[in-house]
Amino acid sequence: MRILEKKIIVYEYSTIWDLPAVEQKLLNASREAVLNAYAPYSKFNVGAAVLLENSEIISGNNQENAAFTTGLCAERVALFYANSYYKNIPVKAIAVTASNNLGITCDPVKPCGSCRQALIEVEVRFKQPIRIILNGRNKIQVFEGVENLLPFAFKPDSLD
Ligand code: THU
Repeated sequence: MRILEKKIIVYEYSTIWDLPAVEQKLLNASREAVLNAYAPYSKFNVGAAVLLENSEIISGNNQENAAFTTGLCAERVALFYANSYYKNIPVKAIAVTASNNLGITCDPVKPCGSCRQALIEVEVRFKQPIRIILNGRNKIQVFEGVENLLPFAFKPDSLD
C-alpha cells in the first residue's frame, strides 16, 4: 500500500481590489450576469464569466426548468457558449458569483461536480490551466487550475 497525496492550493483575497485589473473586470461581469439568471425554482442566482485568450469575456447564468434536471448551471452555460462561439480560443479564467435572498453569498460558491468535469475537459482541450475565481461577500478564492478543485479527475486520456 502507498499513499498518494495531492496538494490543493487556494488563494484567498479579502477584496476585489487585490486582484489584477483584468480579473476585477471578469469578477464584475459575473456579478452582472447574476442579475439575468433564470432561477424561479431554487431562487439561487448564479453568474459566471469566462475570460478567453483573445481578451473576450463571455458571461452566462443558471437556466432552470420546471423539469428540474433539464436546467443548467451558470458555469456550463458560459463555458459552452464561449467554446461554441470561439471554437479554437483557449479559456484563461472563469469567475463565479452567486446570490440568494440575502444578496451575494458570504462564502464563495464552488462549482458543482458536473461543472468541474466540464472545466477539466476545456483545460485538457486547450492544454492550459484555467484560473477559477470565486466571489463571496467575505472573501474571494482563486484556484489555479481545475486540478485544485477536482483532483484525480476522469480525463480524456482515461478512455485510452
Ligand atoms: N448552480 C450553478 O449555476 N452553479 C453552481 O456552481 C452551483 C449551482 C445553480 C444550479 C441551480 O439552478 C441552482 O444553482 C441551485 O442549485
